[in-house]
Amino acid sequence: MEIIIHDTPQEAAVAGARMVARLVREKPEAVLGLATGGTPLPLYRELVRMHREEDLDFSRVTTFNLDEYLSLGPEHPQSYHHFMREHLFEHINIPKENTHIPDGMTLDVPAFCRDYERRIAEAGGLDLQILGIGSDGHIGFNEPGSSFASRTRIKTLTRETLQDNARFFDGDPTLVPRHCITMGIGTIMDARCVLLLAFGPGKADAVAGMVEGPVTASLPASILQHHSTAKILLDSPAAATLQRADYYRWVRENRPSWQQD
Ligand code: PGA
Repeated sequence: MEIIIHDTPQEAAVAGARMVARLVREKPEAVLGLATGGTPLPLYRELVRMHREEDLDFSRVTTFNLDEYLSLGPEHPQSYHHFMREHLFEHINIPKENTHIPDGMTLDVPAFCRDYERRIAEAGGLDLQILGIGSDGHIGFNEPGSSFASRTRIKTLTRETLQDNARFFDGDPTLVPRHCITMGIGTIMDARCVLLLAFGPGKADAVAGMVEGPVTASLPASILQHHSTAKILLDSPAAATLQRADYYRWVRENRPSWQQD
């Protein structure tokens, strides 16, 4: 794991966008795994800016989103389909047919999930997966207790996640769908590179568990300790309870000149 601590979410998001942009420039047909929620928003804003001002080209990129609420159609304002159009897809030159998001209205969840896995594999696998982290340590919607071997499937959200996400549903956790389709932990771990962003003091405990705690299904993000190329982009408040924060900063300050993000 590479722990990269910035002063602000904006600085961390710009650093993350540069990593994505470098990949897309080196490999124009890159396959990106995308996340939703509040955390990736500044990263998407920066990618949109780079597309507009620096000709960052998404015309050959393919994307797969991590998850979607079950029972929300693509036009629902809180669906992740809607989120992705509003915050990224409508502002860059990615062909619609290259974007994939789980179908929250599917009538056959297991068959849809198998097909989603097949499509990821047929695209050549994920080159880079963008992740947030839940305050309960989830990645995607893989709640505590999720199998490390899990693939795309239905999950039931925890009460904590319903509460966390109520802010998008008029503050009412009973309005948040209880089920979702999410890539599994095994699916995420197969990505060739993982870029996890976490901002704010509300994420500090989950971040400390992920980075310095035991690897346990009780904190799903901790499995990223076993990923060969996991970059963890934090702001200072999210890094506040890390025991080795000084060392992570020291590592960055003393990077060999040939090392790139
Ligand atoms: P957030 O969600 O970015 O809205 O905090 C992160 C997550 O649940 O993975």
